[in-house]
Amino acid sequence: MEDHLPQSVRVERRPVTEHESRHANGPDWDRYADEYQATHGAFLGDAGFVWGPEGHTEDELGILGDVRDLDVLEVGSGAGQCSRWVRTRGGRGFGLDLSHRQLQHSLRLDEETGVPVPSVRGTATDLPFADGSFDVVFCSFGALQFVSDIDVAVAEAARVLRPGGRFAFSVTHPTRWMFPDDPGEAGLTATQSYWDRTPYVEVDDATGVVSYVEHHRTLGDWVRLLHGHGFTLADLVEPEWPEDHDRVWGGWSRTRGLLTPGTAIFVALAATR
Ligand SMILES: C[S@@+](CC[C@H](N)C(=O)[O-])C[C@H]1O[C@@H](n2cnc3c(N)ncnc32)[C@H](O)[C@@H]1O
Repeated sequence: MEDHLPQSVRVERRPVTEHESRHANGPDWDRYADEYQATHGAFLGDAGFVWGPEGHTEDELGILGDVRDLDVLEVGSGAGQCSRWVRTRGGRGFGLDLSHRQLQHSLRLDEETGVPVPSVRGTATDLPFADGSFDVVFCSFGALQFVSDIDVAVAEAARVLRPGGRFAFSVTHPTRWMFPDDPGEAGLTATQSYWDRTPYVEVDDATGVVSYVEHHRTLGDWVRLLHGHGFTLADLVEPEWPEDHDRVWGGWSRTRGLLTPGTAIFVALAATR
């Protein structure tokens, strides 16, 4: 959930289509991008690869393995920090994001760092690439929890991967859905069902327009989704809150992080055909 709720917005739980999700989240990320990059840019690093608010980096976790000489697609790439890291490690990193403003920040960082990430505006549910174009597809909190048609998004990742390719993504840990999105003590008491998949929706009070959407899948949902598209689940990483880490990011905090997982990283391998 977002860490930027304007007062004129009300929160609901109700079904939303892929069209509504995309038409809410694209403009929402356009509006939020400047604040997001100003608030979190230094933590992410201009050519850094952070998997989540706990701050674990790809250098530490090695989720993708050696990316040298590999074609790597980041879905929901934002300002392209992770893909820029891929480039510094000898991989051919490419970005895709729904938000024009996020991609403008990516261009800014291309210039500032001298490490350009070729990027395209698009959606996770309709990747503009030929079948079998990539060795790795990944998301670091990008796209997947904002997509309604998750079956289509996972099918798209499978389609653009080469046989045996790797699909790795971090999302809010599914167990967090039960708790209020509060970094303090209030965020430690379960208040809603883990199994209730009804999306989190923010609605503009004045216009009634859906302005932000997040979707929930249980751990079992993710396993079935991956299996259904021919993936083998290689790992499920649940990063622990580091002892010396005291940064609050939305609902992520030390108070909660020491007790409950905040991030889940799924690592899956495409069928070898
Ligand atoms: C939390 S940000 C993560 C970006 C980047 N990985 C980072 O760590 O800063 C989520 C990104 O997903 C993008 N996004 C949301 N829905 C998307 C979709 N359907 N397809 C592609 N990108 C999407 C947003 O525009 C945003 O840039």
